[in-house]
Amino acid sequence: MQLILMGAPGAGKGTQAAKLVKKYGIPQISTGDMFRAAVKEGTELGKAAKACMDAGKLVPDEVTIGIVRQRLAKEDCQKGFILDGFPRTVEQADALEKILDELGKKITCVLNINVPSEYLIERAVGRRICKKCGSTYHVKFNPPKGDVCDNCGGELYQRADDNENTMKNRLNAYEASTRPLIDYYKKAGIYKEVDGRQEITKVTEDLINVLTSVNE
Ligand code: AP5
Ligand code: MG
Ligand code: ZN
Repeated sequence: MQLILMGAPGAGKGTQAAKLVKKYGIPQISTGDMFRAAVKEGTELGKAAKACMDAGKLVPDEVTIGIVRQRLAKEDCQKGFILDGFPRTVEQADALEKILDELGKKITCVLNINVPSEYLIERAVGRRICKKCGSTYHVKFNPPKGDVCDNCGGELYQRADDNENTMKNRLNAYEASTRPLIDYYKKAGIYKEVDGRQEITKVTEDLINVLTSVNE
């Protein structure tokens, strides 16, 4: 199964990808996570990405497409994958189609987690992430039991771009560059959406139901 998880910043892509990884045993490929790992390692890629991320702008297409091309060629993607946060522009979507053509693969389904913009700033600003295992929490909607990660006891932190100002730019970038992909994939006949305003477990249920119907 080759899936694209789409959705505005804070819509729940990462949260739902983690559930689908467990259910289907295919890897999550998050360009945002890959960029953050590069920033932490201090690589050239990380330096280039950091300026864009801190400003809430998209990383240039050629850079992003390059890292996805390399990632999709890896062995663990043979059985399928869940793209989280890629593609985000029409150029990236066109490039993805070429990359998959070369690998003899096709996108099974594009799942859009639909959340209206008025929910998104609160979701991002309240997000907390585990430094050790990457588990994601929300101070109000999905709080940890204590001050540390429920899963591993790791320290929780807030992403540098999870503030109201940067979020506004991220939402603008989404409207300008990523929203057009909804029509792009509708035209391709592989677009599905779920109501991302619901509780996390209900969104997961809906996603699994869509995937079951697609695979029948
Ligand atoms: P990226 O890391 O992908 O950020 P994003 O798209 O802004 O999305 P988020 O990770 O913020 O949100 P999410 O949808 O994963 O939500 P989550 O599940 O965590 O990208 C970061 C940056 O990298 C970009 O700005 C850009 O600079 C660069 N970049 C990345 N990919 C790129 C690309 N392809 N091209 C160019 N540049 C790229 O949930 C959010 C919060 O809400 C959590 O606290 C969670 O607990 C909570 N929550 C989740 N679901 C629910 C629910 N149903 N109800 C209530 N709360 C919920
Ligand atoms: Mg995410
Ligand atoms: Zn943890």
